Amino acid sequence: MICKYCQLIRSFDAKYPLRKATREVKGDYPRCDWHWRYVCSICGKPIHFNGITWCEKTRRFICLSCAKSHRIVRRTFWNWKDYYAIECDPCGEHHPALDYLEFLRQHPWQLHPDMLKKQEGLDSDLKLPGPTYFCVPLKEGVITEEQISHAWNNLAVKWSCRYTEYGDKNRRYIIDPALFKIVGAVNGLSILDAGCGNGYLCRLLAKKGAKVVGVDISRKFIEIAEQKEEETPLGIRYYTQTLCNLSMFGNKTFDLVISNLALMDVHDLEKAVVELRRVLKKKGKLVFSVMHPCFSSPPVHGWVRIPQDSSRKEDWIYWKVDRYFDRSMETWQYGDMPPTYSFHRPLSDYIKILLQNGFRITDFEEPIPSKKDINEHFRELGDCDRISWFLMIGVKKA
Ligand SMILES: C[S@@+](CC[C@H](N)C(=O)[O-])C[C@H]1O[C@@H](n2cnc3c(N)ncnc32)[C@H](O)[C@@H]1O
Ligand SMILES: [Zn+2]
Ligand SMILES: [Zn+2]
Ligand SMILES: [Zn+2]
Repeated sequence: MICKYCQLIRSFDAKYPLRKATREVKGDYPRCDWHWRYVCSICGKPIHFNGITWCEKTRRFICLSCAKSHRIVRRTFWNWKDYYAIECDPCGEHHPALDYLEFLRQHPWQLHPDMLKKQEGLDSDLKLPGPTYFCVPLKEGVITEEQISHAWNNLAVKWSCRYTEYGDKNRRYIIDPALFKIVGAVNGLSILDAGCGNGYLCRLLAKKGAKVVGVDISRKFIEIAEQKEEETPLGIRYYTQTLCNLSMFGNKTFDLVISNLALMDVHDLEKAVVELRRVLKKKGKLVFSVMHPCFSSPPVHGWVRIPQDSSRKEDWIYWKVDRYFDRSMETWQYGDMPPTYSFHRPLSDYIKILLQNGFRITDFEEPIPSKKDINEHFRELGDCDRISWFLMIGVKKA
């Protein structure tokens, strides 16, 4: 069997050798040793050859995740249209990934015959690792609120480090613009931020003149929010509490309830919706965003790529979804942060729970960033305009 990459390159370069496939031979994309995975000298993890570089000066392999930064260089070579330039610390230069280095004849195996002979840097595994999802049916008793709050406590500090005063990129460029458009002027309104996390949105709303209260199940998140309030007082009050029991608020307390990417993390959605409705004034509005349930059903969501381990967008062919009707709990991990939980339900569950509990739908958005923001901030990820990551729904008390 011939390596798929070698075959592809041969169709652009008649002199390119056709090597035997020795890796992933039973997979969709059998590959030769050259076109396999190389082990990063820093983190020790194997990475697809287009996501790792070689520094000739320090004689190290450096992967995308360990590099100080990286950028995409648009250049056509063989069948590809771009490559990663990976910043090398301490040498300070941007080195091209191994695919472009090979094209330049500067692949370490081209520069050093001894490395080729010993196949230095090559990952010894012959197959790609399988998926690592944990997901169990969503039923009562499968998890406690203590466990949920504990998980978020562990995560709170690292999670907040990713935020500026405008939240993370998704919030700043995708979710919040849609949210602010739906809620309009907030000056003078009393607002509950349900599942407020570190309170970045509470602060944005307070700066726009709203009287804001934030509630979150995680004590640690609330501590972070309270510390910010101490540093720069905006009159925001915070409570560590589950949304399923808001007994500290009387009926009809708030003009507006906002909940940003929190309700898919709430175990008992119906209980929370009943409470959120109770604390809303007559004609009050609830506006919330969740991870879009149509594209996030565990355990198998993700981009299907050929080959499977390539991080380059050109190699992503479509987004797969399955088990959509399984109501399930997913244990997930963001980067190297501690794990936490989300709860998948089909879209109709959200809608039915809202309608059956006395809400009328007024807004329904699948927000995507502007063309300009995609170019400036999502260029590399570049998938937020291929599928809808988020769903935003506005409802009024019927
Ligand atoms: C993805 S974070 C979003 C936080 C914040 N809204 C933001 O956008 O930065 C989800 C939040 O929901 C909170 N949460 C999960 N279950 C909850 C519950 N039952 N009651 C209140 N908050 C809950 C978590 O502690 C976490 O802060
Ligand atoms: Zn090959
Ligand atoms: Zn690495
Ligand atoms: Zn270097």
